[in-house]
Amino acid sequence: MIIAQISDSHIDPDSPNAAARVRDLERCVDDINGLDPLPDVVVHTGDLTHNGTPAKYKEALDILRRLRCPLHVVAGNRDDRALIAANFPTGRDLLPGTPFVQYSVDAYAVRLIALDTLSEASNMGDFCAIRANSLRQALNEDAGKPTAIFMHHPPFEVIESKYRWQFDAPEAIATLGRALGGQDQVVRAFCGHAHRAAAGLIAGIPVSCVPSVAIDLRLGEFTGAAKTAPVYQIHRLDSGHFVTETRTAA
Ligand SMILES: [Fe+2]
Repeated sequence: MIIAQISDSHIDPDSPNAAARVRDLERCVDDINGLDPLPDVVVHTGDLTHNGTPAKYKEALDILRRLRCPLHVVAGNRDDRALIAANFPTGRDLLPGTPFVQYSVDAYAVRLIALDTLSEASNMGDFCAIRANSLRQALNEDAGKPTAIFMHHPPFEVIESKYRWQFDAPEAIATLGRALGGQDQVVRAFCGHAHRAAAGLIAGIPVSCVPSVAIDLRLGEFTGAAKTAPVYQIHRLDSGHFVTETRTAA
């Protein structure tokens, strides 16, 4: 099982950096399409657009529909939940009849669960009892299948970040941690939002954060070809664990 993760492309025709951000996303799509073997699936962990509107999603879709493998998108704080759900396959809806975009994709060797970590109050993360109960219920449905969690906000301390904690309140992270606690089938969690590479734990589960696809927004040190090229990550399942490679798009 190979998963390509892209994140935080912030497509925005109104930005002075509009053309560069389009190009950054195109380069990642082209690079993924050239991989051999192709990933089984691509997951975008949110902020696909910047303050999403139908026109911005159309621009993103025009690029992403060129991918040669299936794509799922996690909602980020700059996204529009309804437009994500309307434009991208969101698997089995775990919270139908609510605004939350939380879903399960059961078609692969590893089950993918996309969490909705959006807050109504800020650009930071949140995770309420409704979302936690839905996650717990989904995990209990199939406790024997290896599972990967995808969410926009990192639920761990990003030590190098200006905003070390990226949730509104520690209690929201604790709520997420309790829902994941003891669920030994969850092998890894993946997120974006911090725009930099980072790693931590939630309920003892390794969590990683991928740099933003948008070069003008990313943080951290990049060397060699990555100084001027967008990066994304490949997560390859090996002996029950995901091994991560950060790739520089050609
Ligand atoms: Fe974000």
